[in-house]
Amino acid sequence: MTWRNPLLHLPKRPLPARVAIVGAGTIGPDIGYYLKSALPSMDLVLVDLEQRAIDAALQRLRDYAQKALARGRMSEAEAAAVVSGVRGTTDYAALRGCDWVLEAASENLELKRRIFATVEEVVGPEALITSNTSSLPAARLFARLRRPQRATVTHFFAPAWRNPIVEVIRWSGLDPALFEYLRWVFCVTGKVPLETADVACFMLDRVFDNWCNEAAHCLQWATAAEVDSVAAEIVNAGPFFVLNMARGNPIIVETNSLQADEEGEHYRPAAIFRSVDTWLTAPAGKPVAVAPQAAHPVRDRLLGVLLSQSLDIIDRGIGTPADLELGCRLALAFKGGPLEWLQRLGEAESRRILERFAHERPGMPLPQRPLSEYPQVHRHILIDDVDGVRVLTLWRPEALNALHQGMTDELLAAIVACEDDPAVRGFVIIGYGTRAFCAGADIGRFPSMLGNAQAAAQYARDCSRLLVHLDGMRKPVVAALNGMALGGGLELAMRCHALVAQRAAWMQFPEVTLGIAPGIGALVVPYRRWPGAAATFHGMLCQAERLQATRAQEIGIIDGLAEDYLGLVELACRRVRELAGAARPGLDAPVALAVMPAVEARAADGRPLSAEVIGIIGRAVAAAASATTLGAALEIGYQAFAATACTVAACEGIGAFQERRKPDFSRTG
Ligand code: COA
Repeated sequence: MTWRNPLLHLPKRPLPARVAIVGAGTIGPDIGYYLKSALPSMDLVLVDLEQRAIDAALQRLRDYAQKALARGRMSEAEAAAVVSGVRGTTDYAALRGCDWVLEAASENLELKRRIFATVEEVVGPEALITSNTSSLPAARLFARLRRPQRATVTHFFAPAWRNPIVEVIRWSGLDPALFEYLRWVFCVTGKVPLETADVACFMLDRVFDNWCNEAAHCLQWATAAEVDSVAAEIVNAGPFFVLNMARGNPIIVETNSLQADEEGEHYRPAAIFRSVDTWLTAPAGKPVAVAPQAAHPVRDRLLGVLLSQSLDIIDRGIGTPADLELGCRLALAFKGGPLEWLQRLGEAESRRILERFAHERPGMPLPQRPLSEYPQVHRHILIDDVDGVRVLTLWRPEALNALHQGMTDELLAAIVACEDDPAVRGFVIIGYGTRAFCAGADIGRFPSMLGNAQAAAQYARDCSRLLVHLDGMRKPVVAALNGMALGGGLELAMRCHALVAQRAAWMQFPEVTLGIAPGIGALVVPYRRWPGAAATFHGMLCQAERLQATRAQEIGIIDGLAEDYLGLVELACRRVRELAGAARPGLDAPVALAVMPAVEARAADGRPLSAEVIGIIGRAVAAAASATTLGAALEIGYQAFAATACTVAACEGIGAFQERRKPDFSRTG
């Protein structure tokens, strides 16, 4: 059985302890660095034919670790652990005893097959073998293995140490348990595995390679710099800029020839790829002006191929719509997934673009269903059933599962869809991955409402729709805190019927460090639910003090603790069953609060905070406590958020987060 959330099962096989990477070019060492950063006690051996490549790869790992140390991303001990237990060799005998061999050699079928034959001679029968090919189907790569069921393709994206996306190919010869194991390993180590069918170029390279190929066809209308400039509306880096960076022309020749041989001449690579080494592009972020008569056909062509390929991928089941969306954004740097583009463009415009594309590029795939049927997809949550309990996983791995309206709308829709279904006993809300339940509301959305009290209050009301719905639900919803629960994420958890957590989880309202107040219930709900812990909430709201899950259990906020992710899911599901049918105390009654003591405008870590914002928070907490309905109290909270969004401190705090610097509230008051 495949769980959408890969951590909903525990494989029998432990995490890899001894890994080999064959191919010490660029991506091999990058994969090695990612693995060693996530699993520092692991042994890593890099194998290549050339000692020079090995020396360069080992140096690369040391440089990465030094950079991480210099940037404060790793401690000295962590940086030392990453480079210890790593060695390089030209001798395949070093693979003996490895539990996982990753091949990252050149894109050549016969070469790869020879490597796998040699690997299989040396490694034990249980060793896992994976290839980092971006195009060659697994069935072909592993056809000659004695034990092909232990082999598949795991396709990383550059830079592999940081890019979270990995395509994991599910092919007919693969042991399904190993497929699930790989997804689990990637998730535990901070990656986002995307299940992909075993077709030439898999899922994301079908989009990328054809996008580049069509960009080359666009040279009939515009220069490479102009094509990239038109593309800037759709992607963060234009196709020719990326091709230069990745030295990608031969790759397009290779991969599009493969697609042409298998699926038709329309995929044949543009001839110009064979004669050009480097494209003349505009500098990154500096688009050139493009005349409308050139810009229009280029834009239509680029959007045409994006939609054509993406809808084909969905129609053929090569990948799920949600994975395609996320992969296009995170691995290929599109400004919005293809289905988001479909929605933005609207049905009539999308149809026009596809019709033009079909006319200019006969043979290219066209959608098999009405366009209106495609965008019906959950993009920000994963939905699983665990023994009759619906487990909803917050899934925005690029932002530590930060909440935005799209995500809360999806959660609400997923709950409403089966709230009355007797087969569903209740819901668990948990975060994707091992670090975060949720890092709060999406800060990226804040700048647009700074200085606009009405917009800010409305934003808070809109984001609260899910939480207000939870307040009135009979069917239990349990929050399972699998890591940090910050700001809006904690506010969401506090509106659930019960909270459980992993022992190492922690909670915080960091908003005051951004110069704002939490807007969707934090000034109200915790005081009404757990009045005895008011002093703790004051410290959290006014000084961003952290609350460890263990302490939260002692003061009654958390019902139970688990040691690991799966234990947490089990605990949360048990709690759902226990709570079924239980009445939920209302939160309408006002609560008597002792006067909040004056606090120094200084965070728990000593940094100055905004006295003005703390003042707004304090007054709102007191006013909300005496409000005679929950609704009235929540409205006081929305208004307080709006008031802080209009302070100079908010501009400083939000600006600092976006510029990745520490805010200076000593200047703002
Ligand atoms: N909204 C939007 N994006 C967020 C986010 C949020 N609330 N929290 C984290 N992210 C993003 C980061 O911007 C970063 O994206 P990038 O890789 O494109 O730069 C990514 O998630 C990973 O976070 P990063 O800051 O690199 O991880 P870290 O381990 O250094 O720090 C936190 C983790 C949680 C301490 C830090 O991200 C943070 O302070 N987040 C804001 C928390 C907050 O104030 N929440 C309340 C909002 S009202």
